[in-house]
Amino acid sequence: MAKKAAAAKPNNITAKTLPLARVVSVQDDIVTIEAARTVDGPGLLVKNEVIYILPKRLGAGGRQERLKAEILRVRGNRADAQVYESTKGVGIGDEVEQSGQLLSVQLGPGLLGQVYDGLQNPLEGLAQAHGTFLPRGVEIEALDQKQKWSFTAHAKATDTVRAGDVLGSVAERHLTHKIMAPFDIEGEARVIWIQEGNFNISEPVAEIETRDKQRRIVSLQQAWPVRRPLPLTLMRAGVSERLYPDEPLITTLRLIDTFFPIARGGVACIPGPFGAGKTVLQNLISRYSDVDVVVIVACGERAGEVVETIKEFPNLSDPKTGGSLMDRTVIICNTSSMPVAAREASIYTGITLSEYYRQMGLDVLLLADSTSRWAQAMRETSGRLEEIPGEEAFPAYLDSSIKGVYERAGVMRTNDGSVGSLTMIGTVSPAGGNFEEPVTQSTLATVKTFLGLSADRAYKRFYPSVDPLLSWSRYLEQLSSWYEQNLRPGWSARVNEMIELLNRGSSVYQMMQVTGEEGITLNDFVTYQKATLLDMVYLQQDAYDPVDVSTPIVRQQTAFDLVYHLVTRDYAFSDKAGAQDHFTRMTGLMKNLNYAVFNSAGYKDLIKQIETLDQSVSEIILPEKA
Ligand SMILES: Nc1ncnc2c1ncn2[C@@H]1O[C@H](COP(=O)(O)OP(=O)(O)OP(=O)(O)O)[C@@H](O)[C@H]1O
Ligand SMILES: [Mg+2]
Repeated sequence: MAKKAAAAKPNNITAKTLPLARVVSVQDDIVTIEAARTVDGPGLLVKNEVIYILPKRLGAGGRQERLKAEILRVRGNRADAQVYESTKGVGIGDEVEQSGQLLSVQLGPGLLGQVYDGLQNPLEGLAQAHGTFLPRGVEIEALDQKQKWSFTAHAKATDTVRAGDVLGSVAERHLTHKIMAPFDIEGEARVIWIQEGNFNISEPVAEIETRDKQRRIVSLQQAWPVRRPLPLTLMRAGVSERLYPDEPLITTLRLIDTFFPIARGGVACIPGPFGAGKTVLQNLISRYSDVDVVVIVACGERAGEVVETIKEFPNLSDPKTGGSLMDRTVIICNTSSMPVAAREASIYTGITLSEYYRQMGLDVLLLADSTSRWAQAMRETSGRLEEIPGEEAFPAYLDSSIKGVYERAGVMRTNDGSVGSLTMIGTVSPAGGNFEEPVTQSTLATVKTFLGLSADRAYKRFYPSVDPLLSWSRYLEQLSSWYEQNLRPGWSARVNEMIELLNRGSSVYQMMQVTGEEGITLNDFVTYQKATLLDMVYLQQDAYDPVDVSTPIVRQQTAFDLVYHLVTRDYAFSDKAGAQDHFTRMTGLMKNLNYAVFNSAGYKDLIKQIETLDQSVSEIILPEKA
């Protein structure tokens, strides 16, 4: 019993007095272990407990390896565990050390700017200590142990605090990093003493006495089990509270912010076929979104792609602070060459770090690329455990796992009354671009914004290649009062009107494919031209142009009003050639406008030219021409 309580509290490291369990079978990265017998019967095995396998066969240089694994399933005195390393050379009878802890992450100052693997080993640290080829079973502290942080106390001795209450803060890069009372304390605790000064993350900054008269030293860091939502106990205790998202997350991508918005604290997915532009779109969102912290989980992506991001980010500047983009970013990366089990864990590691920063009242964006590879990792493990498979051999709990992850996003009123948000966007890479497969379907049933990429648009180089006829956002409706107040009355209705125009344009286009241009009326032809203009100058956005790459919301509103006028007015064209000519010229001017610095002289000049061109076509349509 004592063991179980310890496992539930990751901060309490139990003394390793337990007799050792042993390996009884090995199958790929799944090992079955058997608990050791004690006088009281078999030792206790706990689901999701971390264990270490100690192979009898020693590693290079006679080093005793310790291979990290996590218990997935307990059956009596045996348990199946997934090993986060290669199991080469692991044999029956090898000793197993039980940690008494659930798979956890270290939380504290120093997370920002780090690049971790799925188990929060800093990749740079690993490489420095062990070269490019990492030996098995090496773990490195997730946070710098030596760096000193200047701690300012917000609480004082004799104060009563509860889990998650702010005890003080340190400055981490451009952020105020709140140091919170341990998230696992129950009820009220009393601050015995608290001290200010320069400390590393392990040095004591305070001592508290819990309800059951236990004294606990508090340092700048604490641990939390990744598979359990961090604010769960805080919400149950009523000190933190979930709120409804009530404003959009501005990404400065016109197609998203205007047409398919994502709420701050909302959930979105980007499914798309191979090479359609998922990663580029996610990178754009991570760069330009108005948030404090970005956590990128690169899950099973090709190594080269991840390396590119890691190399690129430190050189890019954060549009909000002007500092390096890496200052607000944490990257968790598992390339497809890393063990499958670590890939499964990486998404939970990422979301727990995100929840931690949200709990400080910050706006956090979590990007997971790709959730399909995460689901595949789950499928492989489930197969090895011989669980009853569901659709396409994915485990039957696929749907609840996907929901469970996205549900951890949201807006949170934290203990001190500040409001933080965690927005989650996941890419999905269905084989052959078939959106009917289980991962896409489960994700679609969970998220509220669906940005479906199309191979056809990518082929035409219509970027971002989000298909406006396929995509949707429930937030356009849900946040309509924000748009009414901050943009203009009737905003959502106007956007829907534009989506409707795109649909009509597409029908005309299809008709033209059959009948040719001659087979359709002038009116239909103009509808098609209007839809094309909207697509070319508003939906499409040039990621390689320094101005067009990012359109602030104020500019989006102006641009939208202009394009709305151009595509809702009547045109008295005498023939299709005249219509075509007009829209081609208008598209050119509007594109140049997108490239012009907002409200610059060049911009104002283009506006004049657009007005002149617009006024050159009368609105009065003669009845016989309609
Ligand atoms: N917004 C964009 N602007 C210009 N080019 C783009 C854009 N998006 C994608 N591309 C082009 O398409 C290529 C593939 O994009 P990306 O790597 O994002 O696809 P993906 O969907 O992530 O592919 P995979 O399925 O392999 O992960 C890019 O290397 C780039 O050349
Ligand atoms: Mg990709």
